[in-house]
Amino acid sequence: MTVWHSPQTADRYDRYTQKFPLYATTSARLVAAAGIRPGSRVLDLGCGTGVTTRALLARVGPAGQVLAVDSSPAMLDTARANVRADNVSWYQGDARDVDRLVGGKVDAAVSNMAFWQFDLVPTLAAVAKVLTDEGSLTFSIGYRVRPDAAAIASHWRRTLRDNGYDLVEARRSEHRESALSLREWSRLALVAQAAAQTDDQPWTLHTLYFRCRPQG
Ligand SMILES: C[S@@+](CC[C@H](N)C(=O)[O-])C[C@H]1O[C@@H](n2cnc3c(N)ncnc32)[C@H](O)[C@@H]1O
Repeated sequence: MTVWHSPQTADRYDRYTQKFPLYATTSARLVAAAGIRPGSRVLDLGCGTGVTTRALLARVGPAGQVLAVDSSPAMLDTARANVRADNVSWYQGDARDVDRLVGGKVDAAVSNMAFWQFDLVPTLAAVAKVLTDEGSLTFSIGYRVRPDAAAIASHWRRTLRDNGYDLVEARRSEHRESALSLREWSRLALVAQAAAQTDDQPWTLHTLYFRCRPQG
């Protein structure tokens, strides 16, 4: 059980994402970085309340399919209420069990603002089992302080290689948010850095998007 399992967290997160663009913007950029095509079958790992799922549905279109996975029943209940589409399926379970949760292969897997919370080694192994031969995994990571993108990319290149993946592309981007957004983010009590926020200045979320592929 994590903080994500609380209905109160799901409710606060949902209200936050409706008021501030942080998660919608990073989801849209993630979906673009993943190079997803209309008609694709795509896995959304750590789908939360459905913000990323919605961006994926817009990209895959009516001929595509989104398989959305989250370990928190409360987050999933909110996602189901938020996103009504015939071509989305919801799965409650841990990302590391995704090969047992969903049936068949997917053209791509994405994960927005969640990947570092996963049990990395088994999750990468499970995702490799469900990707088609051409399939890729794309995930995002956010920082309050401008990261050393080259050093972080090199760390991920090594970590991914050690787990049977090649890093295909690393993209960096910035997203400006209001001071109010950071204060409300801190009330989510999910981010220690945000909880320490005291000033009234707009702030920047630095994001890295990593696209990788299981080695052939
Ligand atoms: C910051 S939210 C991101 C939600 C969504 N992708 C978005 O951008 O709005 C992180 C989500 O990851 C989920 N999560 C954390 N650990 C997980 C795990 N091991 N397996 C599946 N989901 C997990 C949480 O329940 C939460 O819904």
